[in-house]
Amino acid sequence: MEENNKMNISRRGFLKATALAGAALAVPTGLDKVFASETKQPETSRTDNGIARIREYRVLGTGKAAFEVSALGFGVMGMTYNRSQHPDKKQCIRLLHEAVDRGITLFDTAIIYGPLTNEELAGEALSEFKGRINVTTKFGHEVINGKATGRQNSRPETIRRYCEESLRRLRLDSLPMFYQHRADPDTSVEEVASTIADLMKEGKVQRWGMCEVSAESIRKAHAVCPLTAIQSEYHLMHRLVEENGVLDTCRELGIGFVPYSPLNRGFLGGCINEYTVFDPNNDNRQTLPRFQPEAMRMNTRIVNVLQAFGRTRGMTSAQVALGWLLQKAPWIVPIPGTTKLSHLEENLYTLSFALSPEEWKELEDAVVAIPVIGDRYNAEQQRQVGR
Ligand SMILES: NC(=O)c1ccc[n+]([C@@H]2O[C@H](COP(=O)([O-])OP(=O)(O)OC[C@H]3O[C@@H](n4cnc5c(N)ncnc54)[C@H](OP(=O)(O)O)[C@@H]3O)[C@@H](O)[C@H]2O)c1
Repeated sequence: MEENNKMNISRRGFLKATALAGAALAVPTGLDKVFASETKQPETSRTDNGIARIREYRVLGTGKAAFEVSALGFGVMGMTYNRSQHPDKKQCIRLLHEAVDRGITLFDTAIIYGPLTNEELAGEALSEFKGRINVTTKFGHEVINGKATGRQNSRPETIRRYCEESLRRLRLDSLPMFYQHRADPDTSVEEVASTIADLMKEGKVQRWGMCEVSAESIRKAHAVCPLTAIQSEYHLMHRLVEENGVLDTCRELGIGFVPYSPLNRGFLGGCINEYTVFDPNNDNRQTLPRFQPEAMRMNTRIVNVLQAFGRTRGMTSAQVALGWLLQKAPWIVPIPGTTKLSHLEENLYTLSFALSPEEWKELEDAVVAIPVIGDRYNAEQQRQVGR
């Protein structure tokens, strides 16, 4: 209760301070706007009364598919799903409002998270800001009566139904962006793309993206309906998109890239290790080879490298991990998730560090020298990616 009051006061104080300064809250217009193509180094995140605020905006996609968003987004998933214990709904809403206050304009959820509860939370917390911020969501994993079936379903009639249901849960008239979460082996890429194109004509969807697909699928989809972004796993412990043509294809076609799990599901933040006990009912990390105790013990050597690199620069390992992604390309927008204000602030402060290409190379070389132990996915999850 006392904590609630404190946060209320800090939020009110912050709003007052920014109103006095005449600063626009979280609206990417005017002098604060820095287009990705003009950005050489990450723009410094300045502070108002010591509060970290994003001042850098990036553009995902090009032409009609262009989407201007804050340089760091916010992954909502862990607030209800797959990241063990989380604060109650009131606290999560408070933190999401703090993220809006700090200039974040991109929030990421999906139908499968919960299932449904994550979209419901995002709708309740964020619909009041519609037009100023964007909530992106995802279809593809089949959900029947609120339960995941484990199958993929991107048939046109299912996409349409999921779109209507997501609009209702998110309390929106139009989805800012709808991603296909995983490819459906029984529905062609072209059919999915043309269903989305129809939904765009009807005004129900504004932009679209795909997750964990191959470069070939990206080309096919983009030819039917221009993509705004690809969302796949990418961080210092998993760099597949650099090798399988996905990043090159995005660069060539002018498609943005949104790295998910940018901290490797928290591991690169250094707060979890071989002794961490995951909630058996709400955490997929215990099913992942890379998160088995022995693998985590070995992989801690990588976190040590990030910590050593950050130590002489005043950065935490989480900031090193996020900064490394941000400097890769101006059309990359990571979406770290958190349930803590302190981590949100820490992540936002990443934008105030500007390192040279030589420094990032030094980090890469040190990380590459350590083998990553354990696959990122188990066999079943692996079958669903790269199609
Ligand atoms: N498209 C897909 O298939 C897919 C798959 C997975 C995820 N995603 C998206 O990506 C988003 C982020 O992914 P994620 O949650 O898997 O991974 P992540 O962002 O890499 O890590 C989240 C974890 O890191 C911790 N954390 C955050 N900031 C930290 C900091 N500064 N220091 C130490 N720990 C920190 C959080 O714990 P605290 O709460 O304690 O801060 C949380 O448990 C999700 O919300 C979701 O929107 C998409």
